[in-house]
Amino acid sequence: MVCLGNICRSPMAEGILKEKSQHLNWTIDSAGTSSVHEGETPDYRAVKTLRQHDIDISKQKSRPFSLADFSEFDLILTMDNSNFEKVISLAPSVEASKKVKRILDFIYPDQQEEVPDPYYGGDSGFDSVYSLLDRATDKIIEQYGE
Ligand code: 4NP
Repeated sequence: MVCLGNICRSPMAEGILKEKSQHLNWTIDSAGTSSVHEGETPDYRAVKTLRQHDIDISKQKSRPFSLADFSEFDLILTMDNSNFEKVISLAPSVEASKKVKRILDFIYPDQQEEVPDPYYGGDSGFDSVYSLLDRATDKIIEQYGE
């Protein structure tokens, strides 16, 4: 799961998908295209929003996306078009670039829809992010979890 700061959207996506895939042998992690927040725990609003859904992301730590992620993971899910373009630009091969998708492709195929950045807004932005990620992760489980 990749966003810009790895303190709002991608930690939420990581927490939600981990919660839904406990019966599956998946490795799920998140990272940011920027290292500005490296080492920080998620934004308190992201933590609070997920706590309302009984998911604890308070112990996650922000880390920058790394080239090694292309070999470590089968799927790299970006939150917005800027993250998508950035990660694609780092892909070391065509095969690696095929692992990169927009997470909202799972609910809005081919529409290049984005998970809005909630950082500069209020709590309602985090609720909207939760709702989008909840729907997208249901589809991911449907598609890959059987
Ligand atoms: P995220 O949100 O990419 O969902 O983690 C942001 C977090 C921090 C900043 C921007 C977006 N920032 O500019 O510091």
